[in-house]
Amino acid sequence: MYKLAPSMLSADFSRLGEQFKILEDNGVEWLHIDVMDGQFVPPISFGMPVITSIRKCTKMFFDVHLMVDEPGRYAEDLKKCGADMVTVHAEACKHLDRTLQAIHDQGMQAGVVLNPATPLNVIDYVMDRLDMVLLMSVNPGYGGQSYIPAVTQKIRDLRKKLDDAGYPNIPIEVDGGVNAKTVDEVLDAGAEILVAGSAVFKDDIAANVQFFHDKFAARA
Ligand code: DX5
Ligand code: ZN
Repeated sequence: MYKLAPSMLSADFSRLGEQFKILEDNGVEWLHIDVMDGQFVPPISFGMPVITSIRKCTKMFFDVHLMVDEPGRYAEDLKKCGADMVTVHAEACKHLDRTLQAIHDQGMQAGVVLNPATPLNVIDYVMDRLDMVLLMSVNPGYGGQSYIPAVTQKIRDLRKKLDDAGYPNIPIEVDGGVNAKTVDEVLDAGAEILVAGSAVFKDDIAANVQFFHDKFAARA
């Protein structure tokens, strides 16, 4: 039920294969891949050639978080790169419903991402087409920022909204500032998939992963 999705944005890009092996050897199943276009968010991170390369060295589930304007344009390319799940920002799509359809048409899972200030009701009429909802708990664009406390209530509200609408199986992923200080609060509120960048890749990766897995085991 619970999953850790390490964000490779905080990895050492000169040793990606080596670090992915440590993740896999320690039971990590998901890799969170942050693609930024320099438009929707100021930075440019990396794109298709990098995803294609890393697909060759890991079997982890590729959870691709697109911080990109009009992300539906890239559905076909992302499928070719080996993406498993693509999440798109509601704020970045003129036609959110069509964008989700474009991702599903490629045989990938599709999720919506909401910035901290974006209300939950933007998903009201696409819930039946969602494989996941990702709530940003920082403003997107950078790793290593502090968790925004107001998002805790938003996680609770979203869990209730999905359950009430008959979608108890749609998981909530939370991204930004998830670490030893905030993990309990985020799990208590109802998140099941935790993105963690700096809290995984800083210092001892294996020990950091174990920390999160112990938290999950305590709740199983
Ligand atoms: C921020 C990215 C995050 C980021 C998280 O825009 O979406 O995935 O890498 O980093 P931490 O866990 O360090 O806040
Ligand atoms: Zn992310």
